Amino acid sequence: MNKYSICIVGGASRYTPDMLTMLCNQKDRFPLRKIVLYDNEEERQNLMGKYTEVLFKDYYPEVEEIVYTTDAKEAFSDIDFALMQIRAGRLEMRESDEKIAMKHGCLGQETCGPGGFAYGMRSVPAVVDIIKEIRKYSPDSWILNYSNPAAIVAEATKRIFKDDHKIINICDMPIAIMDMYANVLGKTRKDFEPRYFGLNHFGWFTNIYDAKTGHDYLPELREILKEPVEFKTEALFEEPSWKSTFNFMSQMIRDYDEYLPNTYLQYYLYPNKMYKKSDPDYTRANEVMDGNEKITYEHLEKVVELGRIKGSEYDVDPDAGCHAEYIVDLATALANNTKEIFLIITENKGSIENLDRNMMVEIPCRVGVHGVEPLTVGEVPTFYKGMIENQYAYEKLTVDAYMEGSYQKAMKALVLNRAVINTDVARALLDDYIVANKGYWPELK
Ligand code: G6P
Ligand code: MN
Repeated sequence: MNKYSICIVGGASRYTPDMLTMLCNQKDRFPLRKIVLYDNEEERQNLMGKYTEVLFKDYYPEVEEIVYTTDAKEAFSDIDFALMQIRAGRLEMRESDEKIAMKHGCLGQETCGPGGFAYGMRSVPAVVDIIKEIRKYSPDSWILNYSNPAAIVAEATKRIFKDDHKIINICDMPIAIMDMYANVLGKTRKDFEPRYFGLNHFGWFTNIYDAKTGHDYLPELREILKEPVEFKTEALFEEPSWKSTFNFMSQMIRDYDEYLPNTYLQYYLYPNKMYKKSDPDYTRANEVMDGNEKITYEHLEKVVELGRIKGSEYDVDPDAGCHAEYIVDLATALANNTKEIFLIITENKGSIENLDRNMMVEIPCRVGVHGVEPLTVGEVPTFYKGMIENQYAYEKLTVDAYMEGSYQKAMKALVLNRAVINTDVARALLDDYIVANKGYWPELK
């Protein structure tokens, strides 16, 4: 079997430790010869790198080379896969995005509403620069990108790297939702073959087929999920705000009688409610900084200090299920031509017949050595078509604003965002974001 060289871009991220455990756990079907962590934050990166050395010494000694570096050439030479999970401006800028939105009466969320817009304008240049560097040193590598806000980032990479079919944009939210369905029905995610349409963080499941029999579980799931249910999930989604998000799915299912919604639709379908639920002085960014982020790095420090992990009080469970596994599923599909179905953010090209061919939609695709091949979705009903077209126009204008440095387009983008709407609010938001994002955003004229 081939052994792969992978680079985690944004290696110092709080998501990396789970990713590493998952890679240990998946070594039989996706063996590594080399792992590289690349980040621009040297200190955190060193800690993560040292942690990786300890973890792999105990759980993955077969890996020949462990590299952690802030140098692009060293990081991106000789890699088969780049897994990209960067956060331009880190959580401090997420806090700024969310709080500025709240100050102007709009919901504060990292990928939805005005926060997603501000983040998009930072994320796109950072992602684009890194992809250019990767292409310099490993022109044939697969780039699996799940940097947020994925919808906007995907629209930009489609335009800037036109014929590069080896850049794949994917999000884990549908995966986490399917894990929930599986748990509720006593199955596993891999028992399902989903059908889904929409944009990233803005889509609906239309069928949850049994992968073997073809039975559609969606009707029974709809009935069960009309009321919040208990289900087993991983630590992140056990946090109170995620619990509340998953519970809110029930409200959406009661209000809309067809499909099963992505959790993020709560922000667009009930923006006032979501605004009122949030604390303008303590947003999700604060929760993450004080909670998950802190715990993660403290844990790393302890492991590095101890110099071993297996059997210690800080041990990981390499056999535990982890939804990040889908990344290895995807990489394996690309490498071994499994032709499994994934929900991918890709150019529509006629899959959804009554939507723009160039739209970056999130739809089921077969994945194999030739990359991503979208399935036919057909026509979507008027309500969803209207919602999607409005949201996509916002995403497109955001990328236009970035590429042209246009204040007008940025303002129009915000007016189209369902969480903003008013022109005066859009202007006020934009003016505050421009000040806060100095050095990250292109200049808008
Ligand atoms: C889900 C989404 C991601 C998001 C992540 C964490 O997995 O798909 O796009 O970044 O949740 O969100 P949080 O608010 O917990 O940082
Ligand atoms: Mn996502």
